[in-house]
Amino acid sequence: MVRMRSSEAGIRQDWIGGSMAFVITVAQQKGGAGKTTLAANLAASWARSRRVALLDIDPQRSLSRWHALRTPTSAAIRLAEVSGWRVAAELDRLRADYDIVLVDSPPQIDTDAKLAIRGADLVLVPVQPSLPDLWAAEGTLKLAAAERRTARVVMNRAQPTGALRDEVARLMAAGEFPMLHATLGNRIGYANAFAAGQGVVEHQPRSVAAKEIAGLAREIEAMQA
Ligand SMILES: Nc1ncnc2c1ncn2[C@@H]1O[C@H](COP(=O)(O)OP(=O)(O)O)[C@@H](O)[C@H]1O
Ligand SMILES: [Mg+2]
Repeated sequence: MVRMRSSEAGIRQDWIGGSMAFVITVAQQKGGAGKTTLAANLAASWARSRRVALLDIDPQRSLSRWHALRTPTSAAIRLAEVSGWRVAAELDRLRADYDIVLVDSPPQIDTDAKLAIRGADLVLVPVQPSLPDLWAAEGTLKLAAAERRTARVVMNRAQPTGALRDEVARLMAAGEFPMLHATLGNRIGYANAFAAGQGVVEHQPRSVAAKEIAGLAREIEAMQA
């Protein structure tokens, strides 16, 4: 089972208003888990009050294509796309110039993803309530633990009730998956906002999805308090 709390490096205390960006790498070996959705929505949420950069290291470039859909009226978000040996250097560059850097990674743990995890202050692992998602998350959490990175699981497309959700919750508790309290429901609003090059906080600010993202952003901010 995955154990990482004892060995994790600990969250930096200075990220809000500090001179170096707080780096969040969204990683999960399973495709379709919600990595890009999470990165886009957190970026859009924080971009209203902070300098936010995105680093897209997934060759599919979904996040870059979302970013290309943004209009001049949307809050500014810097996008960088790199792969290979340039990942670490680009991360260093962005870290110096922004408050928050969000890295969206490919659905496999390759060298690039390892570099992005190594360079992260926090690794976010989206998990949908299914066993394959959970199994894939174990590998990502082990890698984060090996790199002594703080990692947290975000339940995505959570069902409000149901046997499967309960079973996944039980397995997570048994396996000491480090969960955030905030969860994201299965909501069409996430796909609609994405198609408009927006986050849900921009697209439908009063929606349940927007409240979920705002709550998640606050919980992440509070981790360093
Ligand atoms: N909470 C959610 N509710 C509804 N649809 C979602 C949610 N999270 C992700 N999706 C959809 O699932 C698909 C895969 O999500 P994506 O973020 O691209 O996953 P990944 O980057 O891990 O491959 C997308 O079509 C996305 O719109
Ligand atoms: Mg993706």
